Amino acid sequence: MENVLTLIKKDHDAATALFAELRRLIDADTFSEPDVRECFQNLKRALLSHQTAEEEAVYSRLRTHGEMKDYAFEGETEHDLAAGLLEKMTYDSPIDERWRAQLAVLKHAVDHHVEEEELDLFPMMKKAFSPDELVEMGKDLQALKLVVQETGTAPLSALRTDAGVRGARPGAEDDIRAG
Ligand SMILES: [Fe+2]
Ligand SMILES: [Fe+2]
Repeated sequence: MENVLTLIKKDHDAATALFAELRRLIDADTFSEPDVRECFQNLKRALLSHQTAEEEAVYSRLRTHGEMKDYAFEGETEHDLAAGLLEKMTYDSPIDERWRAQLAVLKHAVDHHVEEEELDLFPMMKKAFSPDELVEMGKDLQALKLVVQETGTAPLSALRTDAGVRGARPGAEDDIRAG
């Protein structure tokens, strides 16, 4: 069973591939607005379901952990900014040059966010949570993502009772400070 870090990395890589595909469609000689819009919708769905599930399955468990708590709040704020831009881009036209500027800003923001999660947050989580806990969080992430994809809404309480909010191993925060 894959742990949550592997699953998050897969989502990040999928988003990167969708950004590249969107770029290719925009730069194509045979520019097709429907194709660009379809690809954008795929990217939007991927990013929103990922970040909503991530907040519920991961960030909610970081709020009681000193240094990681700051990452959770910062990460959620970055998620909100991306969601706002995605929403705006849904109603603007990809033909407009401003739309392309918005896409560039979105990609820059997502790249930065992904880098912080993978390079800074992942090592802290590896120390704070046991391998079993990371697998459990992975199960929650996948289940939550499905709910968001199917309903289009954030399932804030849907899995809360099943998932609970598991804490990290006792002393994990000391490990992090020492490490
Ligand atoms: Fe992420
Ligand atoms: Fe994130």
